[in-house]
Amino acid sequence: MKGVIVIALKEMVVKNFGESIWNDVLLKAGITLEPMLMITSNVDEQVVLRVISSLCEILEITLEQAAEAYGDYWVNVYSQRIYGTFYRTAKTSKDFLLKLDSVHIAMTKDIDDANPPRFEYEWTDGKTLIMKYKSKRGLIDIAIGLIKGVGKYYKENLKINKLGNDKVEIVFP
Ligand code: HEM
Repeated sequence: MKGVIVIALKEMVVKNFGESIWNDVLLKAGITLEPMLMITSNVDEQVVLRVISSLCEILEITLEQAAEAYGDYWVNVYSQRIYGTFYRTAKTSKDFLLKLDSVHIAMTKDIDDANPPRFEYEWTDGKTLIMKYKSKRGLIDIAIGLIKGVGKYYKENLKINKLGNDKVEIVFP
């Protein structure tokens, strides 16, 4: 997985909970020497998952709560700095989410070893969208946290239901 994901995670934890919590999380995850990461570095997925589960244990929160905190930070703070035009060129969360598959393709096409998640879209009625999440990483809960962050950015009250490990239903207002 690309370093950008972990860089944003660290920034969220340090800003919201403090540097010493981040150090505790690394220790609990068995990382004694924190590597210097760049946006395009490759990070072992198992290590990232260990870091996330250590964070949940230390803060005594569920994976859903951690995903929500991360999704809010990624969408509303971190990615605004480097990928802000994607949000500004979409008027609603629906416009933005429908671009998400092509955004992932475009943003990773020049990065070696990138393997972005893919999204497929299916409408069940005029305002109900099923987004199929295709990735062997199985991070649907993180995807849902990110979608919640998108709703917050556009100030829209989205109803989000997890339909399984590869599907989420979104009802737009
Ligand atoms: C402008 C906004 C966004 C940009 C530029 C972006 C870009 C990226 C990049 C570069 C990666 C790393 C890919 C890799 O490791 O090969 C990634 C991973 C990921 N993105 Fe996004 N992303 C954005 C928003 C979102 C949103 C709103 C969602 C919600 C569904 C999402 C879902 C994910 C997930 C779940 C991963 C983890 C990797 C996986 O599941 O396979 N992203 N994204």
